[in-house]
Amino acid sequence: MSASLPAPAVTGLPLSALAPMQDVTDLAFMGVIAHYGAPDYFFTEFFRVHAQSRPEKHILRSIDENATGRPVFAQLIGEDLIHLTRTVTELLKHNVAGIDLNLGCPAPKVYKKNVGGGLLRDPARVGEILATLRAAVPGLFTVKMRIGFEDTRHFDVLLDLVNAHRVDLLSVHGRTVKEMYRSEVHYDFIARAVARVRCPVLANGNLTSSAVAARVRAETGAAGVMIGRHAIRNPWIFRQCREQFAGHPLFRPTLADVRGYIEHLYRATLTPGIPELAHVNKLKKYLNFVGQGVDAQGAFLHDMRRTDSAAGLFAVCDRHLLTEPAKAFALEPYPGVIARPNCETPGAADGCSLESVTA
Ligand SMILES: Cc1cc2nc3c(=O)[nH]c(=O)nc-3n(C[C@H](O)[C@H](O)[C@H](O)COP(=O)(O)O)c2cc1C
Repeated sequence: MSASLPAPAVTGLPLSALAPMQDVTDLAFMGVIAHYGAPDYFFTEFFRVHAQSRPEKHILRSIDENATGRPVFAQLIGEDLIHLTRTVTELLKHNVAGIDLNLGCPAPKVYKKNVGGGLLRDPARVGEILATLRAAVPGLFTVKMRIGFEDTRHFDVLLDLVNAHRVDLLSVHGRTVKEMYRSEVHYDFIARAVARVRCPVLANGNLTSSAVAARVRAETGAAGVMIGRHAIRNPWIFRQCREQFAGHPLFRPTLADVRGYIEHLYRATLTPGIPELAHVNKLKKYLNFVGQGVDAQGAFLHDMRRTDSAAGLFAVCDRHLLTEPAKAFALEPYPGVIARPNCETPGAADGCSLESVTA
């Protein structure tokens, strides 16, 4: 018998989780999100597992120093059974809520090694990995998957493996690997997963606001929602989800609140010794998402991208966010304001980093 899932922050409401995001969901970002309204569960970005791997120290920090008050699942990506088992043993010495397997990463350099989303082509191998991990994890063992590699031909077989190996929680990003991040999301496949598996399912993919999250949750019958990029844009989204699920009025951030969030993010993600320009450039990657809710023309994004110092960046923030500080920050991204217009140029698209992923 495996353990039961950690209780949600508010009993009786659907679950919420921050989606794992490489180079984003680190200790600092989880802390920032928790400040504005923590999800029920966090997931680390993936620990790479191979013959030479050791759990990455910076990812371990998001477990060991987690002060959010909410549990963190440790995510693995890999396919080597011996080294997956070894890594689980190492990670179980830390305060993890459970072990999560990545069956979705669409980066070609990842899937070409038959890990992440690449494994969805090979259900037999997935079965071996699930059996190995289930045997290695006495507590919660969870899976995050896309609905297929280039099509959904193996979807039902994969769901049956989830049942056969007694997975405790399944997160489904309703796209194939080949659909990357910008196609429509096939929520009907998430509903199919809910109907077929015995464990709770988290619905994931383009849940742009609490209203969309509540609608998709109800339509699919999922136990909860997992949100990634739209939590970068709107860190209040998990608070709003709880308000929405409970039928309460939503907290509506103003542009001045967003200015506060940006400053908080800037300070929280500062790494000692990193030059100012490097940090400004790092912040811009988050602001690509934030800018989708500032103005319909993308003027904030346009100006923000052209800054090259902290003073310049915050002057742009002041001009766009404090001229009308009480103006509402959009709950949905403005249509046509793309987080990263040049991301799909060849070479940039490695598929699992803020540089390459748009919304
Ligand atoms: C920058 C970035 C990094 C990601 N890294 C991971 C990862 O480490 N593990 C994983 O399972 N999914 C990863 N994903 C996928 C997200 O967890 C999520 O499934 C996807 O973004 C769709 O959800 P969203 O529309 O709410 O962002 C990443 C996504 C982004 C945007």
